[in-house]
Amino acid sequence: MKLFISSDYREMSVIAARAVARQVLMKPDSVLGLATGETTKGMYEKLVTMHDQQLVDFSAVRTFNLDEYYPIEPKDERSFHYYMKHRFFDQVNLKPENRFLPDGSTENPKEECRKYESSLAQAGGIDLQLLGIGSNGHIGFNEPGVDWGTTTRLVNLENQTVKKTFGSDSSAPTKAITMGIKNIMNASQVVLLASGGQKAEIVEKALTRPVTNEVPASILQLHPDLKIILDEAAAGRLPKKEV
Ligand code: GLP
Repeated sequence: MKLFISSDYREMSVIAARAVARQVLMKPDSVLGLATGETTKGMYEKLVTMHDQQLVDFSAVRTFNLDEYYPIEPKDERSFHYYMKHRFFDQVNLKPENRFLPDGSTENPKEECRKYESSLAQAGGIDLQLLGIGSNGHIGFNEPGVDWGTTTRLVNLENQTVKKTFGSDSSAPTKAITMGIKNIMNASQVVLLASGGQKAEIVEKALTRPVTNEVPASILQLHPDLKIILDEAAAGRLPKKEV
């Protein structure tokens, strides 16, 4: 595992964007696994700037997002469809047919998961998988207790996960479609991002304690090509030798 500790959120975002740009330069038809959330916003912003400056070309890239709430309409501002469309897809030259995101408005989630797995297989697997980490250690929406062998499926969300996005809205989706741990671990390269003091405790648990499915992100310790990009606050609880 390679650990980068940046001074702040901005620097973390720049390092992450450069890792993506390098991947795309070296392999223009890369398959990227994309994450959403607060953590990755700065990275997408930087990628859009690099694209505007013609430093990176997404015309042959295919992308697979990790997850989407269920049920949710793509036009719902809290959906990951909306997030991706406005923060990235509409601003770069990624072809619409090359953007994959689980459909949170489908009436048949099982079939949607089957289709997603088949598209992933057709793409030949993921070259670089971006990840954030939930405060409970989730990656994608693989919540604590997850089986390591899981692939794309419909899952129940923990209350705290629902609350983070939807507050106490009683009509909030309580499920999600998410890629599984197996999909993530099968990616050739994984880049994990975390920012802020509120992530320091879970980062320490995930990276320095024994691997356990109670902290899903801890499985990443076993990934052969893992880069971790933290800001100083998120790295705040790591033992000095890790830093
Ligand atoms: C969300 C997403 C994850 C994301 C994580 C961290 O719920 N399902 O893919 O990485 O939780 O989110 P944030 O960056 O907002 O802390």
